[in-house]
Amino acid sequence: MRAHVVGWGKYVPDRVLTNDDLARMVDTSDEWIVTRTGIRQRRIAEEGETTATMAVQAARQALEGAGVSPGQVDVIIVATATPDYLFPSTACLVQDALGATRAAAFDLAAGCTGFVYALAVAVAMVEAGAVRTALVIGSETLSRITDWTDRNTCVLFGDGAGAVVLQGGPDDGGVLSAVLSADGSGADLLMLPAGGSRLPASHHTVSERLHFIKMQGRDVFRFAVRVIPTATREVLRRAGLSPDDITLLIPHQANGRIIESAMKDLKLPPEKVYNNLERYGNTSAASIPVALCEAVEEGRLGPGDIVICVGFGAGLTWGAVAIRWTRPRPVAAPTWRQFLRRLIYLWAALRSWLRRLWWWIRT
Ligand code: ACO
Repeated sequence: MRAHVVGWGKYVPDRVLTNDDLARMVDTSDEWIVTRTGIRQRRIAEEGETTATMAVQAARQALEGAGVSPGQVDVIIVATATPDYLFPSTACLVQDALGATRAAAFDLAAGCTGFVYALAVAVAMVEAGAVRTALVIGSETLSRITDWTDRNTCVLFGDGAGAVVLQGGPDDGGVLSAVLSADGSGADLLMLPAGGSRLPASHHTVSERLHFIKMQGRDVFRFAVRVIPTATREVLRRAGLSPDDITLLIPHQANGRIIESAMKDLKLPPEKVYNNLERYGNTSAASIPVALCEAVEEGRLGPGDIVICVGFGAGLTWGAVAIRWTRPRPVAAPTWRQFLRRLIYLWAALRSWLRRLWWWIRT
């Protein structure tokens, strides 16, 4: 049994926050942000929009594209660092909103690597035969945990959601290999210090601004530059492939200079590396599925192509997934027998309804 990506969708809020807008809020400039990060603008959730509502939008698009009804979904995994609540899980809110009543649902926290982790877990479930159809979502409302007075971090992040539908099938291709890694000794390099069991919300945590992202940017940068090529080479090796086989590398969209460094290390030309940073900034667990969705929509992936999704983030965590792209398979058209059965059923229902109408007219 192989796990195939059969549907994809994305959602980004309408509201755009440009670098010039930010320059009016903190001591920064469009020039600094573009040269140091490659970001020009990001999307910010409107009031009322949350990680769950954006996830639902992306998921609906992915299900529709796949021709899969919510009732067919066996499991929903939402990768996020910004859940609607600590509990219940955002995945449960999504399950209810979609009407995916048969689906198990849980969140997965692996920072910006969340989507890659969630995809790998879903693939393992499909390959083990535990589920047939999985909905894997990366959704983030980072604007709600961004310190808009801290120029070191507020220029980086944005909101959005991306989703894929995975389905098991006997055909070759699909997800070929995955590699997941972590190094908890780097936990303090990127964190949200308060709001959990260690530092519950208090006047102190609020006044010290501990409910916002804290990041050692340079250390995270060095870590990212090291792990992207390592994870990419390892996932390729496990799939029996080499960097030359890559059609498209989709790295976590955190910083243009990190992406350039990975490109150089892996000796990949720019057309083989996806980059939409300038439009959305870093959307954490949403960045890879949003990029994947756009790459497909732009016609950059066709049957047989090799796409590598590689992520890194808080934890520290990193990981990659290698996919041999296969055409999304629409829901199988009904067989002749099913078609005839449905026709007979419809005719019987219509006849019974007409009889009742005739009886009602006569009496
Ligand atoms: N505007 C103007 N100046 C700024 C800004 C800003 N927005 N931010 C920082 N600076 C200043 C700093 O104060 C510093 O000034 P100083 O030299 O007088 O102290 C100077 O610019 C250089 O600062 P650096 O931190 O060295 O800048 P750097 O080139 O490293 O870029 C950045 C900073 C963009 C944050 C970079 O380190 C980076 O991208 N790191 C990785 C971040 C990342 O990917 N995080 C997400 C991980 S995934 C997840 O799970 C969320």
